[in-house]
Amino acid sequence: MGNPRYIKAFLRFFFHKIACPINIHLLPSNQPPIVPLRRKKQLSMNITYFGHSSFQIEFGGKTLVFDPFISPNPAAAGINVDEIKADYVLLSHGHGDHVADAERIAKQNGATIISNYEIATYYGGKGINSHGMNHGGKFRFDFGWVKYVYATHSSVLPDGAYAGNPGGFVIWNDTDGCFYFAGDTALTMDMKLIPLTCPKLDFAILPVGDNFTMGYDDAAIAAEFIQCETIIGCHFDTFPPVKIDHEAAKNAFATKGKRLLLLALNQKVSM
Ligand code: NI
Ligand code: MN
Repeated sequence: MGNPRYIKAFLRFFFHKIACPINIHLLPSNQPPIVPLRRKKQLSMNITYFGHSSFQIEFGGKTLVFDPFISPNPAAAGINVDEIKADYVLLSHGHGDHVADAERIAKQNGATIISNYEIATYYGGKGINSHGMNHGGKFRFDFGWVKYVYATHSSVLPDGAYAGNPGGFVIWNDTDGCFYFAGDTALTMDMKLIPLTCPKLDFAILPVGDNFTMGYDDAAIAAEFIQCETIIGCHFDTFPPVKIDHEAAKNAFATKGKRLLLLALNQKVSM
């Protein structure tokens, strides 16, 4: 045992045993484990793209709308905001190109807004149901777990109100799978925490447009950091500074063995 090789092997075994089951054992006993060891794959996530960073995702029997920016987006003129259904509206941060239709969609559906504490409080003040979170925190909603994770960006609401710190969402349940909606962010080392603290991602929605967020080269590295094979791109082509070469973007991911989907407006995919 005095041999350094044995000591190293022992330490590796010891810390592996501590580190691996940490997510399971530190939870209060009245909550289910957050990381099912063998999750059944019955993926049933239906995704609709509304342009820019706006998505509607059917998950856990509920309809989630992310970062709705539709009525001010000329490219999304074919979408009638009045017809958009939502049980929840998730807002990554306060910028207008992510919250423009949040109030309208939440009010017409009686939906709950999920965002950081400051944005949730802001919409709560408008009479909308809201649930505030902050970085690193997770909460079990009736459709599954939501973890609000770090994003490197800025955040202010269109009327100048303080909008807290920007974030992304990792969302999962035992039957539908797990995905990451990054919001607006640069490539950041914190993304490496996602596979350490959340179930295996089935797909992720990452910004790829550059200028205001990471571009597709950095996003392809992000796909490696989060250990995810299938990426849906967002935050591209809406404005001149975020116009991208689609083939070059897909190649950047393909060279890393990843798949990049760039959806057309109103296109639906199932995961
Ligand atoms: Ni932004
Ligand atoms: Mn943005």
